[in-house]
Amino acid sequence: MKFKIAQLSGDGIGPEVVAQAVKVLKAAGSKFGHEFDIRSGLIGGAAIDRTGSALPEETLKLARWSDAVLFGAVGDPKFDDPRAKVRPEDGLLAIRKKLKLFANLRPVKVYDELADGTVFKPDVIKNTDFLFVRELTGGLYFGKPKKRWETSAGRKAVDSMAYSEQEIERIVRAGFELARSRKSKLTSVDKANVLESSRLWRQVAIEVSKDYPDVLLEHMLVDTCAMRIMLTPRDFDVLVTENTFGDILTDEASMLAGSMGMLPSASLAGVPAKNTKIFGLYEPIHGSAPTIAGKDIANPIATILSLAMLFRYSLNLAEEALAVENAVSKVLKAGHRTCDIIGSGKKSAGTNEMGDLIVKALGE
Ligand code: IPM
Ligand code: MG
Repeated sequence: MKFKIAQLSGDGIGPEVVAQAVKVLKAAGSKFGHEFDIRSGLIGGAAIDRTGSALPEETLKLARWSDAVLFGAVGDPKFDDPRAKVRPEDGLLAIRKKLKLFANLRPVKVYDELADGTVFKPDVIKNTDFLFVRELTGGLYFGKPKKRWETSAGRKAVDSMAYSEQEIERIVRAGFELARSRKSKLTSVDKANVLESSRLWRQVAIEVSKDYPDVLLEHMLVDTCAMRIMLTPRDFDVLVTENTFGDILTDEASMLAGSMGMLPSASLAGVPAKNTKIFGLYEPIHGSAPTIAGKDIANPIATILSLAMLFRYSLNLAEEALAVENAVSKVLKAGHRTCDIIGSGKKSAGTNEMGDLIVKALGE
């Protein structure tokens, strides 16, 4: 089959890790007989440097032309000035919003081989396997008013955590559907003891739950959830939450997997279901990591696992997705590690080498 892929590598380690995923993509193409038309576009700091915009019109067009977007990372310290008019992150936020990618799936899986190498007790985290469903186009990130102004008493700023019931309903529904395809437990995470938007969130979650009597719904406050992720991570199956809560909790949860470099994500324009294709953008949850960029030491696994999600959700290639995931497992089992997940007695690999090892494992 033929597929169209938009490659948006972005900044920092983005180009390095995406290059590894593209190698894997091409290898999967040869193995399974698919043709991928891969075209690159500018986004983030790289796009600001060349065009003045963090998301040039041409890049948006390219994304719309594609079946799926493979994304790296955005962010560059040279745009860190709080007075800057345009920032690399604006490009990512704009593409999520313009392509209506409201459902961000972030699976958190602890590989047996890595359970000994984290800061946690292996017994606590072994067999952890849960899925975050983060709302991605609303909440604090986009709510209005959002501004900064001068008053006679000094400077003020406001961000708004705003949600409509429709926005809540579609993401909660995505959570229920995904829970149904797993262990049928959904944890809805909010701050309903304080926030009005969370009280609406909880109410809508209860209403939607009537359509899913087979799924167990529990509500959890976000602060409790942050603690539970560390204490009893195996208790979770699917979690659904608003944009900012999801951003924070998934960085925290990535530590269970040993490194942010292990966590993939899919940002989807719909609710995944078997044998359907949904447009999506696939990105590691980590950022551009400017301090290690260009050193060939970044972990490409999060991006390669994001490619597996791309196969599964946007191209309906379940077998290919599994093959990529198995190749990653195999390489980890053989003891190969990038420096972020290295343990004693393991074989150290750079970014490129890790990409090559996974390509090789895919071919076996
Ligand atoms: C993420 C990132 C982004 C976010 C940044 C880069 C804008 O942290 O995808 O988790 O906050 O959503
Ligand atoms: Mg984040």
